Amino acid sequence: MTWDDAEYGAGGPGAEATADPGASRLVGAAADGEDAAVEAALRPKDLAEFVGQERVREQLDLVLRAARQRGATADHVLLSGAPGLGKTTLAMIVAAEMGAPIRITSGPAIQHAGDLAAILSSLQEGEVLFLDEIHRMSRPAEEMLYMAMEDFRVDVIVGKGPGATAIPLELPPFTLVGATTRAGLLPPPLRDRFGFTGHMEFYAPQELERVIHRSAGLLDVSIDPAGAAEIAGRSRGTPRIANRLLRRVRDYAQVRADGAVTEELAGRALEVYEVDDRGLDRLDRAVLRALLQLFGGGPVGLSTLAVAVGEERETVEEVAEPFLVREGLLARTPRGRVATPAAWAHLGLTAPQGAAGAGRQATLPDA
Ligand SMILES: Nc1ncnc2c1ncn2[C@@H]1O[C@H](COP(=O)(O)OP(=O)(O)O)[C@@H](O)[C@H]1O
Ligand SMILES: [Mg+2]
Repeated sequence: MTWDDAEYGAGGPGAEATADPGASRLVGAAADGEDAAVEAALRPKDLAEFVGQERVREQLDLVLRAARQRGATADHVLLSGAPGLGKTTLAMIVAAEMGAPIRITSGPAIQHAGDLAAILSSLQEGEVLFLDEIHRMSRPAEEMLYMAMEDFRVDVIVGKGPGATAIPLELPPFTLVGATTRAGLLPPPLRDRFGFTGHMEFYAPQELERVIHRSAGLLDVSIDPAGAAEIAGRSRGTPRIANRLLRRVRDYAQVRADGAVTEELAGRALEVYEVDDRGLDRLDRAVLRALLQLFGGGPVGLSTLAVAVGEERETVEEVAEPFLVREGLLARTPRGRVATPAAWAHLGLTAPQGAAGAGRQATLPDA
């Protein structure tokens, strides 16, 4: 089984991504089917190739280097951060840097403690076990993991009821790499058993430009610096989105032009795909426009806003809003959703006096 078979097999994180209402969006951060196929080729193979995340990279470099010098197995590593920022990539890099094999599974794939026991008991010494979506593991499996992480031991329960016995089983030392998009959901006893936690941040545009140049090289796409900057600015701080937009721009360049990606061409291509200069797509803009034009900038309740754009509540709340909030275009308040001055400006609209987000106009002295 190859790494990617394992990662995207049935029940893996890929399966979860398909259930995500925003998974098929061009600017969605979850991996879609095409990403799964291409990402393996685009993943940096070692820390030196990994762009950005300076702090995590340096800290992890120290952890791994020290372990190598001691000839020991590296401490357990927890990686937390939004989808598409490079957690899976870093997990594979940990194994590569340690010269160790990697086994890949995910929280949702481990239904019973027995599933985990089977994996743990078949690990080789020094092997890296990558547990994606670790916050979605079942409670009994989690408790088995505590002991495995700390004492390299599991108790295998044989039999049922009063006759059941626990047979202790020694495990070879291994490195657990856990990844989670929701570090806050991890029980503290689990979090505490990681020797190192890396928090992945969204990438700066200049870092995404480097990701795009690197990917363009691997995909044999000719792109100039302004073209890369144009795509980077629309990628929501996320390498996965940057790589996906690059592929769509490449299609456009190939069909409508001579294949070379320039700023002007990237801009035209992403206009066709309805990704605007801040990385908002059609849904994001529909939500903002409804908030501004139908409700005067709010406050308006989530359900009302969802009906106005013809979407499910969950889609608006989980797919569109997080990025709008992050971009400072929309605020969630106890009285409802409210637009900010930046929202009016982004859609090129003027806020009426007294409207939410009309802050600047409202504070002008009347002449
Ligand atoms: N720091 C980085 N440098 C270069 N490419 C990256 C980086 N981080 C992520 N990528 C690319 O983005 C895509 C998604 O990364 P991945 O590790 O699968 O994210 P996550 O597991 O956090 O969802 C991969 O194709 C990977 O090549
Ligand atoms: Mg991943």
